[in-house]
Parts: sequence; C-alpha cells; structure tokens
Amino acid sequence: MSQGIERFFLLSYCLACCWPGLGAKSDLRVVRQWAELDFVFPSEEAKQIAIQKRYYVPGNSVPIDVDAHYRKGPDQSRIFVAIPRFSEGRPITLGTVDESGRIVAYPDYSWHDNQGTNCTGMSSVFRVAIDECQRLWVMDAGKIGGKQVCPPQLLAFNLTTDQLIYRHVVNSSNYVENTQYITPIVDVRPREPGDCTDTYVYVADGSSFSLLVVDVARNQAWRTTHRLFYPFPSRGNFTIDGVRFDVMDGVLGMALSPYHPGRDRFLYFHSLAATTENVVNTKVLRNNSYIRAPSIASDAIYVFPKERSSQSAAEAIDRNGIMYFGHMDPPSILCWNTATEFSSKNFHTVAADKETLQFASGVKIVLNARGEEELWVLTSSLQRFMTGTLSSDRINFRIHAEKVPTILANSPCKNSRNCRKG
Ligand SMILES: *[C@@H]1O[C@H](CO)[C@@H](O)[C@H](O)[C@H]1NC(C)=O
Ligand SMILES: *[C@@H]1O[C@H](CO)[C@@H](O)[C@H](O)[C@H]1NC(C)=O
Ligand SMILES: *[C@@H]1O[C@H](CO)[C@@H](O)[C@H](O)[C@H]1NC(C)=O
Ligand SMILES: *[C@@H]1O[C@H](CO)[C@@H](O)[C@H](O)[C@H]1NC(C)=O
Ligand SMILES: *[C@@H]1O[C@H](CO)[C@@H](O)[C@H](O)[C@H]1NC(C)=O
Repeated sequence: MSQGIERFFLLSYCLACCWPGLGAKSDLRVVRQWAELDFVFPSEEAKQIAIQKRYYVPGNSVPIDVDAHYRKGPDQSRIFVAIPRFSEGRPITLGTVDESGRIVAYPDYSWHDNQGTNCTGMSSVFRVAIDECQRLWVMDAGKIGGKQVCPPQLLAFNLTTDQLIYRHVVNSSNYVENTQYITPIVDVRPREPGDCTDTYVYVADGSSFSLLVVDVARNQAWRTTHRLFYPFPSRGNFTIDGVRFDVMDGVLGMALSPYHPGRDRFLYFHSLAATTENVVNTKVLRNNSYIRAPSIASDAIYVFPKERSSQSAAEAIDRNGIMYFGHMDPPSILCWNTATEFSSKNFHTVAADKETLQFASGVKIVLNARGEEELWVLTSSLQRFMTGTLSSDRINFRIHAEKVPTILANSPCKNSRNCRKG
C-alpha cells in the first residue's frame, strides 16, 4: 500500500492513472481510505493539550469534502480534506493528506488550535473549491456544534505560496442564527487568459435555506432566498445500508455549467432532503439588487419536472457539461449530460457499490498536470455517524478518483449530446 502511494507521489502527476487501487469493486479507484482519521500535530505537547481540552477526541472526526491539486515540478501534488466541527474533538478542520494517510493542518496548525477563541483562524470548514487561478477557496461556517463562535468567513489561499490572499467576513446582515454556509462554488470569468479579476463565489446554506453571493472584486456580498432552497419533508428520511435516519437539510449540492465567453452561465442546485434538481441563471444571482430585497423572483429559477429516484448530496459538472452526482439508493455515482432532459432515462451509472459508495458528500472535477479532467469523490458511512454507531473496526471514509475520459469511454453520457432537446 505505502509503496503505491510513494510511486504516485514520485511521479507527482496523473494520480488516478498511476494509482493501483485498493481492491475497490466499483469503477472508481480508492485513493485513500480510513477507519478513523489520524492527525499530525506540531509536537507531542500540542497533541496532549488538544486531548486535554477535548479539541481532539479520537474517532470523532468525519471528513466530508475532498479536492486535489496537481503541481508541476518538484512540489508534491496534494489532497485536501475538510472536517467540519459538528461538535467537539476535531483538532484540524482543513488539512492535506500525508503519505501515510494522516491529516496535516492547512496552511498550518495555528489556524486550527484556537477553537472558537481566535476568529483569524478557521472554526469549521465544510467544503472547499480550487479554481483555475490556483486559488483554494475555503468556506468557514464559523460554528462549533450549533454555536456561532465566529462570523462565517470565506477565505482564499494562493496554492503556490500557501498565503492568504482574500478574506471576506460575512456581515451580520447576511446570516441568521441557523445559517450554515457549507458549499462554495467559484465562478471565474477571465477577460484574457490568466485573468482572475472577475470572480464570484456562490455559497449554499443548507440550514437557513439561502445562498450567499460574494462579488470578490468589489468585496460585496448579498444573501438570497427562494422556496426551492428548502428541504421537502417527504424526502427527509434516508435509508443507507439498512440504517434509517432523518435529515432536513436544504440547498447543499451545487455545480456550475462550463464557461463560454459571452454566454450565460447556469448554477444547478438541489437540497439534500429532495429528489428534484433546479437551475438558475447566474446573471440573476449576480445582480446586487438582492442587497435590498433578498427574495429571488419566484419565476427566475427553474425546477426540472422529473425527479431522481432517491436523494443526492454533492454534484459537479465537467468541461463538457456532464454532471456527476452521488445517489443514495442504491449507493452509486451517476452521470447526466446537462444537454439532455433531466430524467432517469438519461442518468447513467459511473460506479455502484453498496459498501464503498454509501454517501458521496464531496464530488469534484479536478484538472491533472496533463490537462485531463478527473472525478474525485469522498464517501462516508454517514448513517453510522448519524446513529452514533461509527466504529474503528471497519472502513468508514474513502476517497475515490478516476480520469473522466476513462469514466466516459463507454458511457452514454458522452454521446447523448445528439439527443439534445429543443
Ligand atoms: C490567531 O490565528 C492566527 C492565524 O491562524 C495566528 O497567526 C495567530 O497567532 C492567532 N492568535 C492568537 C492570539 O493565538
Ligand atoms: C500566487 O503566488 C505566485 C508566486 O508569488 C504568483 O506568481 C501568483 O500570481 C499568485 N497567484 C494569485 C492568484 O495571487
Ligand atoms: C452589516 O450589518 C449591519 C446590521 O446587521 C447593517 O446595518 C450594515 O448596513 C451591514 N453592512 C453592510 C456593508 O452590508
Ligand atoms: C421514507 O418514508 C416513506 C413513508 O414512510 C417510505 O415509504 C420511504 O420508503 C422512506 N424512504 C426512505 C429512503 O427511507
Ligand atoms: C437587477 O434586478 C433589478 C430588480 O429586479 C432589475 O430592475 C435590474 O434591471 C437588474 N439589473 C440587471 C443588470 O440585470
């Protein structure tokens, strides 16, 4: 196992194609897997302090998001994981995975160890996004458990230098007691190659059912609301691996259509407790008139008439407009060509495995060093976490990856463009 990891890191590019896989049965390769997360502390003393203060409770940490960053040259490629602080005991809320699978604090441990007492650091990170300008966007919800210990903040790091290059502290007018900003989606529209000025970030809030829009260039933000950001009570019950639990989360999964200069760009989204998919033209969201009135006009968002057969958490769209999303039951990753009707007849299985693909909470399209796209997925046994039955004697968390051309080689998702409707 470690030999495989070393081989990958020596080659330092094309993770999915060089990685031999850990014997996964699905069509995605398992890049990393854990029964329980283990952390690197700056010193044994720091570890003991974390244990004493219950900042570190072994077995409590549940990763929910992943992203990967390929680098050329001598610098190693890196895998990022986000570990939200649903409650105490998570020593590091955003880290990279080292060669032995341990989590190393990003950008360093000082950002993580003042839990709720230093709002310059990070309180609780649900999801991250890496953009084409080599920036890592970090959405810090500012909460530990249900308590708002710091204002929510959106951070961006330069992945070349690991320096903080942008911080937007969310103003109190843009969140309420229940708000949980969890999923950032970055919209960069270069005026010329390499231009990163025109950047907006759309952030899903699955707990008070809103969307935060951050206009990075002007450092302005507004919160928008719409009834389709809400959960559906009839879809708030889940069954995974025979275990039943309820979650009434609203908007969570989001993905952006590819950028074509001069053309509109669309944000697809859905609630966790839902089987519907919706889409909004980003030009509606980018209008700062929402600073005065947050409610989006009721007809500005389109909900597709057909539905999934079960719920979905995360989703992502590749450069050709093909969406990948996790499916709760049966546990699988499906693809759908957004140029075709949103309908189960156009959903095709990328990978299915009732053990390894139980809850896909992180789904990303990553560009490797050869310019090829890869699909990265983080899955967890969420039902065991929800019901307090996580145990360290079985694998609970996995990171999967595969190259998109390999995934699509025999997939109808690739060729269904011809069936484009209207
Ligand atoms: C607060 O956090 C920042 C950044 O993480 C760190 O540089 C600083 O030393 C911390 N301040 C205190 C008083 O701990
Ligand atoms: C990141 O840092 C590198 C090296 O200093 C610099 O060339 C690059 O422009 C920076 N990128 C951004 C987005 O700030
Ligand atoms: C920030 O919030 C306060 C009240 O919550 C409001 O009065 C103020 O106008 C807001 N500032 C901005 C820049 O939106
Ligand atoms: C949710 O509850 C309904 C009604 O009890 C039941 O028919 C359905 O199978 C449940 N769905 C899941 C995913 O457990
Ligand atoms: C922004 O929204 C307002 C109110 O709906 C509308 O009057 C205005 O034309 C919009 N601006 C743009 C640039 O679309």
